[in-house]
Formats: sequence, structure tokens, C-alpha cells
Amino acid sequence: MRKKIVAGNWKMNLNLKEGKDLIERILTELPNLNEHNQVVLATPYLHLSQAIAQTQHTAFVSVAAQNCHHETSGAYTGEIAAPMLQNAGVQYVLIGHSERRAYNHEDNALLAAKTNAALANGLQVIFCCGEALEIRDAGTQNDFVGNQLKESLFHLDAAAMSNIEIAYEPIWAIGTGRTATAEQAQDMHQHIRQVINAQFGAAVAQNISILYGGSCKASNAVELFAGADVDGGLIGGAALIADDFLGIIKAMLSA
Ligand code: PGA
Repeated sequence: MRKKIVAGNWKMNLNLKEGKDLIERILTELPNLNEHNQVVLATPYLHLSQAIAQTQHTAFVSVAAQNCHHETSGAYTGEIAAPMLQNAGVQYVLIGHSERRAYNHEDNALLAAKTNAALANGLQVIFCCGEALEIRDAGTQNDFVGNQLKESLFHLDAAAMSNIEIAYEPIWAIGTGRTATAEQAQDMHQHIRQVINAQFGAAVAQNISILYGGSCKASNAVELFAGADVDGGLIGGAALIADDFLGIIKAMLSA
């Protein structure tokens, strides 16, 4: 049985005190998780150590970085390397978020290198993919997303793929309040699983968790997570409010 994950992506929000208070609130009311239903908190780098300290005794809650560099050390001012994250106790890293693709010009080849660096240093990767509105309107979203996966992940072997989760995030739904319908999400997730099946085989495809992201809220999570191929969510805005995030975690548990 593959695991479901609700991952909160804080992006560039919250100071240390706000982050600490948010985690405290979440932990106080956290429903019981288990190996099949997990929570990940992707905080800014500055918060990672604090978040790890706060969550270290709570099973099935992990901390993620939102990015890492593709080199493991060196003269890259302002960057953070995968071994640093691993050494600090970080378990996951987001790779390929659409905001980094857009604002930091991260292309599929660079994301392949970042994925390699993360995996080589024992991190689990939440690999983000998703199309812009023009591509959705043109009806070519399946090819587009398939190509993102191909160019960044198809060099891996099946064993490496067991350390990857996918987050499908249609760019037109991120932070816009416009969510993909449950049917659009399920269709794309099914397509992603088929693409992975064709390259890596059924065992990998059936085990990989595929999360939906883009204006997912407590009010629509139940419907979105009902899709047979939707294994939870990557949550932006609603991850900053304890009650909203807890509501989404409950939706995962009831799906
Ligand atoms: P959103 O962001 O939930 O605020 O739309 C999702 C994401 O970008 O991960």
C-alpha cells in the first residue's frame, strides 16, 4: 500500500517565532498518523533546525527543504547543499517547484542534477511538475508533464525511484484560488502513473505517491483526495494556518 502525504510548503513566509507557534499548534491537535498517512513540513532553510527539534518525537512527521544545490559543496554564495540538509536531519527536499522553475530559471536538466545530489545524500525527493495555463488550454498538458518527468527522472533506476514522490501542481492553480477539478487532478495523476509504469514498471508505479498541489484547502481536499491516483497534497497558502492544514490532514486520513 503506497503512502499518502500531506506536505506543507511554507514558501518564503513566517519568521522563526511564527513558524514555531504554527508547528506547536499543529502538533497539539495532530490526529494519529501512521506509515501510510504522513505529514511533511517544507520550511524556509532558516526554520529547518527548529522544525526538526519540534517534530523529532512525533512519528510520521518529517521536515523538508524547499530546494538544494546540485553541487555538494563549493563556492556558491547563498546556496545550501544536500549533505548539509541531510546532516541537519532533513528528510525530504522539494525539487522543481514551478516558482523555482520560473524565477530561478531551473530547467529539467538542472532538476535532474539536483535530484541526483539529493538522492546521493539520502534525501527523499518531492519532485514537482505541472503545466502553465497556455499548455492546459492547448490540451497538451499530458505530453508536457510527461516530458518534465522524462528529462529529470528517467535516468534513474527503479531503486532510486523508491525515494521519489511526485507533486503535480498545475501552475494555473497555484495561489490563484482556482483549483483543478477532482477529475482533472485524477486524470493527470493517472497519466503520471502510466508514464512511470512504462519506464520503471508496475511495482514502482504502484508504490510512488503522487500529490496534488494548487489551491488545495480543507474544503476541497476530501474531493480531490478521493481520486484513486491522488495520494495527498502539496499545500501552500493553507499550510500557513493551523486549522486549515489540520483539516487537510484529516481529509487525507478519511480518504
Ligand atoms: P497553493 O500553493 O496551495 O498556495 O496554491 C501550492 C504550492 O505551490 O505548493
